[in-house]
Amino acid sequence: MGKQQTLNGTVIMEKKKHLGSVFYDEQELLRAVIDIHCKTEIELDPMFNKGMFYKTRNIEIPKYKFDLDPIEGVEKGDATNLVSIRNNQIETMILDPPFLFGIHGKTENNVCSKRYTIIPTFNDLKNLYIEIIKESQRVLKKNGILIFKCQDYTDSKTTMTHCYVYCWALANGFYAKDLCLLVKENKISNPNTKQRHFRKVHSYFWVFQKIKEVSANSSQQ
Ligand SMILES: C[S@@+](CC[C@H](N)C(=O)[O-])C[C@H]1O[C@@H](n2cnc3c(N)ncnc32)[C@H](O)[C@@H]1O
Repeated sequence: MGKQQTLNGTVIMEKKKHLGSVFYDEQELLRAVIDIHCKTEIELDPMFNKGMFYKTRNIEIPKYKFDLDPIEGVEKGDATNLVSIRNNQIETMILDPPFLFGIHGKTENNVCSKRYTIIPTFNDLKNLYIEIIKESQRVLKKNGILIFKCQDYTDSKTTMTHCYVYCWALANGFYAKDLCLLVKENKISNPNTKQRHFRKVHSYFWVFQKIKEVSANSSQQ
């Protein structure tokens, strides 16, 4: 794509540099995903929370926004059962489910866990993620785009959640069209403890395309 500019009467074509897959600003990342991969702006965000994706207005607030625990102005809705959305209605949607799991001492009181909910076990996370992927499969049009934000999680051991999400989406009729990373360096750490894993300072944005219909009965886990 080129932009035209007039300089001393001369028309020059300004070529846009191709973007890399690593971003440091979430709105910039989403703008790039929408511009490159989506036919529309995000139409549906069923895990809206405070709507931080749209805070700069660089990204339009979706027509359909829900949350299980909604703030004022957001409708209550369950991303695993979007009763007001018809089959094959949506062109572009986003999912940003909670990623922390395993309730115990420290995580229970963590501010982030309280705000964004912490999932009791990995099995509960698996069930939630598969159910929201299946529901996305139902509401998306053929070739529609699901942007799925996820994060790996290190507790006493590491769970590569983004790999599971990839497998669950492919098993349910999606093609992994692209992937980009958001890096946020400002995570707190305790220098007095021995480091056993890398601190996770990045999250993943999968770009999945619905390539086939999968009926509720034939979808896989
Ligand atoms: C990580 S937060 C989303 C943050 C959001 N993207 C933002 O920018 O503010 C996850 C949200 O999912 C919601 N949630 C969890 N399970 C849900 C479900 N089954 N259906 C709808 N929302 C759910 C939680 O209430 C929480 O608000």
